[in-house]
Amino acid sequence: MENLEWSKLPFGYFKTDYNVRCYYRNGSWGKLEVSSSEMIHVHMAATCLHYGQEAFEGMKAYRGADGKVRLFRWEENAKRMQRSSQGILMAEVPSELFKEAVVKTVQLNERFVPPHGTGAALYIRPLLMGTGVQVGVKPADEYLFMVFVGPVGPYFKEGFNPVTMQVVKDMDRAAPQGTGHIKVGGNYAGSLKALARAQEEGYASAIFLDAKEKKYIDECGPANFFGIKDNTYITPKSNSILPSITNMSLMTLAEHLGMKVERRPVSLEEIESFEEVGACGTAAVISPIKKIVDRETGKVFEYCKDGKAGPISTKLYKKLQSIQYGDESDVFIWTTII
Ligand SMILES: Cc1ncc(COP(=O)(O)O)c(C=O)c1O
Repeated sequence: MENLEWSKLPFGYFKTDYNVRCYYRNGSWGKLEVSSSEMIHVHMAATCLHYGQEAFEGMKAYRGADGKVRLFRWEENAKRMQRSSQGILMAEVPSELFKEAVVKTVQLNERFVPPHGTGAALYIRPLLMGTGVQVGVKPADEYLFMVFVGPVGPYFKEGFNPVTMQVVKDMDRAAPQGTGHIKVGGNYAGSLKALARAQEEGYASAIFLDAKEKKYIDECGPANFFGIKDNTYITPKSNSILPSITNMSLMTLAEHLGMKVERRPVSLEEIESFEEVGACGTAAVISPIKKIVDRETGKVFEYCKDGKAGPISTKLYKKLQSIQYGDESDVFIWTTII
């Protein structure tokens, strides 16, 4: 891919050479098939189109300075997709099949894995959908699991530079006992309107609160929220947020760096006392937040007074990235060379 300007890539769809597919029929998974088509053939009465039987994952492959390609904690993505299946009654993709499909798709598209040092990575999108036909509200008996990939740059155009976010109270992404804790398409449909409005109003993302009391922070669009205060890494605990693999890793790193870690409800009022705040997820790793505005009351919370990310967020970001890219020894055994 000689002509690609890797360091200028946006976060978006990019056509590559191949994707892989596997069908679940008559109670079992078939063989992986390789395809060079970007299209899928789906029955008009498939449950994914009517009843939202669809789940996906988001992960990345990173090229190291040694030229090797690494996956980051793929087992956690496999497990999360299995929890998504359990949540909306879909066939589960066994971890070994998940790994085989991901590895194969990355290997087949190796020329699209960005070179080390460009800040870009190969985004991997595993996808599971109900393809069986139903007209009554019932789960399908046939499923399609597929994986496609594409090189991406940072999720927010700011990269590791601080962004602004808007707290919304008039819209929710997920119900308190709904599906917020799994990665199913319906949650994202529910968040589109609030995210689009936040962007129109000049913010990088919306921050959702708990749907019941509108008192506690849930998450920041497609990323978890964290704050730093008194050498403590604090992140919300809630049934309606997606357990982020990045956040889980940052909690381990924070502890390793001698910080305390607290996972508990975080009220909107409390964030005033935080020294640093950020959003975390695979796409951006960490997006430092410089300003949060409560859309309803107009209250403003400000951080990064010098315009730069705080010292602890920076340290955590660098540490995690250097493990992901293989620049640092993988003491937690988080990466898999493929
Ligand atoms: C709603 C939501 N929260 C959080 C995350 C971050 O999760 P992870 O760190 O596993 O990418 C994502 C992205 O997958 C997401 O879609």
